[in-house]
Amino acid sequence: MEWMKQWARGVRAEGHVLGLVPTMGALHEGHATLVNRAKAECSRLAVSIFVNPKQFGPKEDFAKYPRDLEKDAEMLQALGVDVVFAPAVEGIYPNGFRTYVTVEGISERLEGKTRPGHFRGVATVVLKLFEIVAPRFAYFGRKDAQQVRIISSMAKDLNLDVEVVVCPIVREPDGLALSSRNAYLNPREREAATVLHHALLAAKAELETGERDALQLQSVMAKVFASEPLARMDYAEIVSAETFEPVVRVGKSCYAVVAAWVGSTRLIDNFFVEVQGDEFTVQM
Ligand code: PAJ
Repeated sequence: MEWMKQWARGVRAEGHVLGLVPTMGALHEGHATLVNRAKAECSRLAVSIFVNPKQFGPKEDFAKYPRDLEKDAEMLQALGVDVVFAPAVEGIYPNGFRTYVTVEGISERLEGKTRPGHFRGVATVVLKLFEIVAPRFAYFGRKDAQQVRIISSMAKDLNLDVEVVVCPIVREPDGLALSSRNAYLNPREREAATVLHHALLAAKAELETGERDALQLQSVMAKVFASEPLARMDYAEIVSAETFEPVVRVGKSCYAVVAAWVGSTRLIDNFFVEVQGDEFTVQM
């Protein structure tokens, strides 16, 4: 812990622009995009690898979450990362740890509803990482849109000196968003997992016909999920990009957000949509 703080203090004192990419490891091209963006914008870059127990529910996959520190470190070295910070659980949460960060409201919806306490764990560990590294920029993926929104709120509410940078979603050629959890899928489930992307594409197609009614778009997405027997939809909603509350009509800045279990693996995906008059733009 102390060595990381000291290293970061040192590079800041030398006048470097320090970047941080927080991860839980099992790195893939999605993480690599964050690293490459950070490399382009920062003169020194730290990547953290920490499977954070506080963001997993008691029945979730903390124990079996994929871990391969050696392979991750190799990949990060090849990408030109300056330092890899992979603390032990006891280092981050020593005996007697009792302080948590809650970003109210938004943390209770969608992911937070199905995974109570998840965002409290995320916000707490990310604040700790921000305090230890004190980066000028921190990089997150839009794949976890609600997570980034919560972290941005935290940074603003607590006057943190860090700029939260959001990077686009990296997908497989068939549209499946890259995720460390995709490794859990067997071949049949892997095929079925494209249902999340297909649901989003169906909503986008509805937008193209001029449909703006959120319930209508939601029902189109739900139908796509119902057509895939290996998948069980958790939610498919159109929400405000600011509050993550449901909207009645697709308006200025919204997300279409979906979550489903494919077999026993829970996956999420989304697209960002901005409507201006009759026109709209989508970031898938
Ligand atoms: P993890 O799931 O490892 O993701 C680390 C970062 O990579 C997150 O910002 C996530 O949004 C981004 N990411 C994952 N898949 C992506 C994809 N397909 N395209 C673009 N970006 C992607 O998210 C976490 O870890 C943790 O909650 C963490 C923030 C590290 C706190 O513990």
